Amino acid sequence: MAEPRLRLTSLSHSFGPIRALDALSFDVMPGEYVTLLGPSGSGKSTTLALIAGFLEQDSGTIELDARPLRQTPPHRRDIGLVFQAPQLLPHLSVAGNIAFPLAMRRVGRAARDEAVREMLDLVALPGLGERMPASLSGGQQQRVALARALVFRPKLVLLDEPLGALDRQLRETMQQELRAVQRRLGLAMLHVTHDQSEAMAVSDRMAVIASGRLHQIGTPRALYEHPADSFVAAFLGEDNRLPGRVEAIEDDIAVIRLAGGAVVEARDAGVVAGAACIVAIRPERLAVATGDMGDDAVAATLREISFRGDHLRLLLDVAGTAVVVKRPSVVPMADLAPGTALALAWQPHHARALPVPA
Ligand SMILES: Nc1ncnc2c1ncn2[C@@H]1O[C@H](COP(=O)(O)OP(=O)(O)OP(=O)(O)O)[C@@H](O)[C@H]1O
Ligand SMILES: [Mg+2]
Repeated sequence: MAEPRLRLTSLSHSFGPIRALDALSFDVMPGEYVTLLGPSGSGKSTTLALIAGFLEQDSGTIELDARPLRQTPPHRRDIGLVFQAPQLLPHLSVAGNIAFPLAMRRVGRAARDEAVREMLDLVALPGLGERMPASLSGGQQQRVALARALVFRPKLVLLDEPLGALDRQLRETMQQELRAVQRRLGLAMLHVTHDQSEAMAVSDRMAVIASGRLHQIGTPRALYEHPADSFVAAFLGEDNRLPGRVEAIEDDIAVIRLAGGAVVEARDAGVVAGAACIVAIRPERLAVATGDMGDDAVAATLREISFRGDHLRLLLDVAGTAVVVKRPSVVPMADLAPGTALALAWQPHHARALPVPA
């Protein structure tokens, strides 16, 4: 096994009475793109500030290539930083900004010029080296900030909401560019965001935190399909929840009688026979039909249907529980009237049978 590039072990930090981080542990491997995803105030920026050396942890360790960082001042940590605001030096040209970390490291003029040219190409700003920061758009300024963070070939790049100030389209373009640059240079990146779709777009793995605690770390697919708890499930996207009772468990499939009487199947995610449970299922995993789907089909009533461009969104009532369904907008359903009786179905392994939280 390769050594991790970054290893956080049981990292804790408090601001007075506020416990911002509580025994946080995870690794970033060489060449890996990890996002730290969590709601506002969950401790994301605090984590980055500790790794960068702007704050000192109360307990726990931070290791870069297996070396503890505690004694190393921020400017010697070999870490590149990008923040939400580009924070360029206004009196220096674009080239001067990008070359700044190299000048600090006493790199010679010719090598500096060469590295700046290479970086301008990498971030798709060729020929803009002589421009002043104020004459660039927000997206261009953020590309310069990225180039400045990468030019000294750091061991690790930390990004704190780097795309937060950009409009949606530019954000999506920049997500692809960040990912492409990261792959091209084989960088280890730790990118903080509260936006789950951004995290899914760029990550090898995502670490979900709330209230300073790690809930789960894994690939976007693993977290979406196999969330460790209801916080992760809800944070990563809409999740329907139908109450019922477990009738039997056969291998890894639970047989459940829903509150409305229908008998359904779902993957066992820690339930016991005879106990109350929740059947959790993503909106895009539900099939709906207007005809008769048999005795055990789940009966539903259409409340609302709306056209969302690439999909149709249906809001249903299932024995008093609201259920959201997303279907491709090509299906011939858009004309259904509210009140129409529908039947719901799904594949057992697409639904999770969860214990009812105590
Ligand atoms: N300098 C500080 N003094 C006191 N409390 C702080 C300070 N910085 C952060 N906190 C608190 O620590 C907790 C974690 O804050 P942090 O800034 O790490 O959250 P975040 O996940 O980055 O949130 P956001 O998405 O809003 O940027 C919050 O409760 C915050 O109020
Ligand atoms: Mg923050």
